[in-house]
Parts: sequence; structure tokens; C-alpha cells
Amino acid sequence: MFGVMRSPRTILFGAGQRRALGPVVRSFGSRVFICSDQRIDSDPLLAELVDQLQGAGLVVEAFKGVQPELPLSCVVEAEVLARQFAPDAIVGLGGGSCLDTAKLLALSLAYPGPLSDYYGEFKVPGATLPVIALPTTAGTGSEVTPVAVLGDPARQMKIGISSPHLIPRVAICDPELTLSCPPGLTAIAGADALTHAIEAFMAARRPPSYALALEHVFVGKNRLSDGFARQAIAALAANLKRAVEDGADLEAREEVMFGALAAALAFGVAGTAAAHAIQYPVGALTHTAHGIGVAALMPYVMEFNRSAVQAEAAEIAHIFDRTGSEEDLAAAASGAVADLLMAIGIPSNLAALGLTEDHQDWVAEQALLATRLIKNNPRPLDRRGVSAIVAAALHGDLHQLKSYDS
Ligand SMILES: NC(=O)c1ccc[n+]([C@@H]2O[C@H](COP(=O)([O-])OP(=O)(O)OC[C@H]3O[C@@H](n4cnc5c(N)ncnc54)[C@H](O)[C@@H]3O)[C@@H](O)[C@H]2O)c1
Repeated sequence: MFGVMRSPRTILFGAGQRRALGPVVRSFGSRVFICSDQRIDSDPLLAELVDQLQGAGLVVEAFKGVQPELPLSCVVEAEVLARQFAPDAIVGLGGGSCLDTAKLLALSLAYPGPLSDYYGEFKVPGATLPVIALPTTAGTGSEVTPVAVLGDPARQMKIGISSPHLIPRVAICDPELTLSCPPGLTAIAGADALTHAIEAFMAARRPPSYALALEHVFVGKNRLSDGFARQAIAALAANLKRAVEDGADLEAREEVMFGALAAALAFGVAGTAAAHAIQYPVGALTHTAHGIGVAALMPYVMEFNRSAVQAEAAEIAHIFDRTGSEEDLAAAASGAVADLLMAIGIPSNLAALGLTEDHQDWVAEQALLATRLIKNNPRPLDRRGVSAIVAAALHGDLHQLKSYDS
């Protein structure tokens, strides 16, 4: 048996937990820099948090310019303001883009050189400034993960910095902060979380060794990640549609936020795989949100991987209330996930995202360059395999993969 757990020192979860923010931040010093977007001025719950920090005796400065999908320029802009201010701690307040800005800013302020020096795995030399993360979407789980993702115009695709040093010191997950998410955002973020949980649960299992977690940020499926992945899939399978249909349903919001948190605790160590590898070029071509791309691909990747992870596929179908033998259940898993995604409005094919046939080869080539993700796929993936997934996903033909044989 093998297990790895990496997480913030403190996770506070539940309705109203945001009220702990002032005292939590005060324990790190007296000057706090907030990374957020324009919503900080228009959403009373967020404005209240700024008042709370000031009420706790903190000197507060805020960068309100974070853009979705996080272009590098946002982090550079935030850094100019933050350097003058010299904070003791950084608060990330918003969706994954705001939390990733906080994590990258904490790195930029602690170490010299451009962020590109740290692209990849294990390049961050040591501790960064403390980050306290408050998500306002239930999806990315960035509040607990060792990765931050950004768009660098010098690169065709989004790029990540992965290091245990990037994990926020404290995550405060208050589902009330997600009540304002419109149905589309709830669906995309929740589908992102479901994809994290499924990819972590179905990830490759590596031979256990003491060196594995020392050499890799993402170590593959393991006993600890499986526990969180199962809880995440169950919470999302039962509640995501409810939260999309009735955004005021606090119980559903709680379950979905818990699902997103648990999914991130799982993928933050296990890693993700083919759906994420293929989404990077798809996202670069179609300029669509990360969550929509990974979710649209997920059923196809599940179907491709089924023979390598029959037990896991069967367990997922069981969580989705399907019945039958292990083989029957495994065969039903990708369809069960596709049904939920369709019910919440996620496109069931890549053509709907704007991908065309002439993009297929480039997408397959680029996906294969994400070697860390490709190696983490439970079924070995070569050019033919990736092309088969892309072709099936392009036109939404899950059956095409049922007969795929390597
Ligand atoms: N670091 C990680 O572990 C990780 C994992 C997955 C994805 N990501 C990254 O996270 C980013 C996506 O994050 P996201 O899906 O949370 O979206 P986002 O942060 O890009 O925000 C999308 C939009 O939603 C709005 N929004 C956020 N919270 C809201 C609320 N409560 N009510 C109304 N509107 C709200 C934002 O203002 C923004 O306009 C991408 O850059 C992706 O690559 C990071």
C-alpha cells in the first residue's frame, strides 16, 4: 500500500467560515495584499471581507485586475503594486484565476527572476510568502493544490508551475461565496472538479518507492488520493445538477464545494492525465474555459481507458447509481458521466467548442508533448491512441472508442 498527502496546514470548510479570515490573516503579520477581480467592489460578501481585514487591524492593499484564464500580464501588474506595498501575507479571493495569481505573486515576491524560471515541476527553491485562499467558485480546488496555471504569450499553450511550496498555507472554503455563481459558471467549475476526481481516481498506479514523492509533485493514484476522489465523485454526482438548477440551494452548494475541495486534494497528489493533456491544445485553439474543455473530453478518455481501469470505472458507475456486474458497470461509466455533463449543459463534443477536422493532428501532437500527463494515463497513450480520442470527441461518437484496440 502507498499513500501521499499534501495540503494546506489548515482547511476551514463550511457556510460562514469566511468570518475567520481576519484573525487567520492577522496571525501572519500586519500587512495583507489581496488578489481579486472587479467583483470585489460589486459583491457585498467580498467587500465585507475587506472590511473584516481592516477591522482586524490589518493594513490592506488590493489588486482587482485578475482576468479569467490568467494571462501572465496580470501577475506582472499585481507584482508592481505588491512590491511597493511589501505584504506579510497574500489573500487570493475569487475563482481559480485569482487564487493562482496569489500563489504566483507569493512566489515572485520571494524569489528573483521571471516566473518562466519556475515553469515545470519542483523548480520553486523554498517557502514563498504565506497565501490564504478563499475560492468563490467550486471547481479548480486551487486553494489546496501545488500548482498554478497561467497564459504566457511566449507560449502557445497555458503553462503550469508545480511545487509543494505553492500550496496555500490556509484554505477557507465557504460555500456561501459561491451562491452568486450563475448556472453556466457553476456547471463549468463543477465539471472541472468532477474531471479532477475522475482523472485522479483513474490515474496510473506507479510502483511504490520512497523516492517517488521526492522526485515528482504528482505521484499517480494512491490510497490517500483514492479516498478523496471517491468522496468527490459521490458529492458531485449527487449534487452538481441540483446546484446548477437552483443556485440558491445552499445544501447543494455545500456538497459541490466539498466535492471540488476533495477532488483537488486527490489530484493535487495523484495528478491528472489524458483529458488535461488534450485540453491544453484544444483550449489554445478554441479559447474556451479550461473546465469546459476537460469535461467535454472526459467521457471519451474514460472509454479509451476502460480496459486498463475496469474496477475503477465500475466503481464510478456504481456511485452514479448504475447496477450490474463489474464488466457491465465499467461499460456504463463513461455514459453515466456523459449524461450528467449533458444535463448541466456541457457540450458533448469538441466541434461545439469550435474545433475542426484540420485541427486534429496538431491537437494530438501537442497533447503528446505534455509528457507528465500522458505518462500518468492508466492506459499507455501513443499518437494513435490520442488521435482516436480526439477523433471520437470531435464529433461526439463514444462508440468509436468501444471497439478501439491497441
Ligand atoms: N491551480 C489549480 O490547481 C487549477 C486547477 C484547475 C484550473 N485552474 C485554473 O483556474 C482558472 C479557472 O478558474 P475558475 O473556473 O474558478 O474561473 P475564473 O477564476 O477564471 O473566473 C471566471 C469568471 O467567474 C467569475 N466569478 C468567480 N466567482 C464568482 C462568483 N462567486 N459569482 C459570480 N462570478 C464569479 C470571475 O469574476 C470570472 O469572471 C483557469 O486559469 C485554470 O487553468 C487552476
